[in-house]
Amino acid sequence: MTYNIAIDGPAGAGKSTIAKRVSGELSFIYVDTGAMYRSIALYLLRKDISATDVETVKVALEDIEIAIQYVNGEQHVLLNGEDVSGQIRTEEVGNMASKSSALPCVRAKLLELQKKLAREHDVVMDGRDIGTNILPDAQLKIYLTASVDTRASRRYKELIEKGTDCDLEAIKKDIEQRDYQDMHRETAPLMQAKDAVYLDSSDMTIDQVVEKIKSLAK
Ligand code: DC
Repeated sequence: MTYNIAIDGPAGAGKSTIAKRVSGELSFIYVDTGAMYRSIALYLLRKDISATDVETVKVALEDIEIAIQYVNGEQHVLLNGEDVSGQIRTEEVGNMASKSSALPCVRAKLLELQKKLAREHDVVMDGRDIGTNILPDAQLKIYLTASVDTRASRRYKELIEKGTDCDLEAIKKDIEQRDYQDMHRETAPLMQAKDAVYLDSSDMTIDQVVEKIKSLAK
């Protein structure tokens, strides 16, 4: 039997940083499910398909194959064999992922891949519906969040450090819009699983959150 840790929460709560650290320290595999949704979104953007055009999305999904690969412990996501790990990290792709992931056909496409990874490996899997939907029997579930202001200023700092010109208020609006979309969709909306531990990282350091999750896992 494998050990599964599910981490859900809104955009910018630090899930991927934390999940990467925890998985590294426990020698588990890190599964970033957002990257899978982003890869489908990238395909739709490239083909100029709107997330509101459900029939066209359904047809397009038949031509999409998503796989993941680990290179030096890092997850890489393959879209029809092409490594798109770098290209999916834009705001445009993130926003499209938030829209297209609301469609049941898109979610159904990724469900089995995510469950299979957790059946075969000890995983830290992060996303929006991992504890509620994908891994309802995960041994540990975390709902990781932080205030909108904290998440926006973290994102702002990240972008400034990368040399990207940005506006704090615009980032905050974007985060609020994504939260709304992810929490109010009909299929598998973002919510805390009943048996998830709630962690607000607004006033916690990364180390503190990592230690807390590791001690909960033990
Ligand atoms: O975590 P992220 O920013 O990479 O996710 C991008 C979008 O994908 C997010 O806005 C909602 C969607 N998503 C989802 O619906 N379910 C998941 N398990 C992971 C991501």
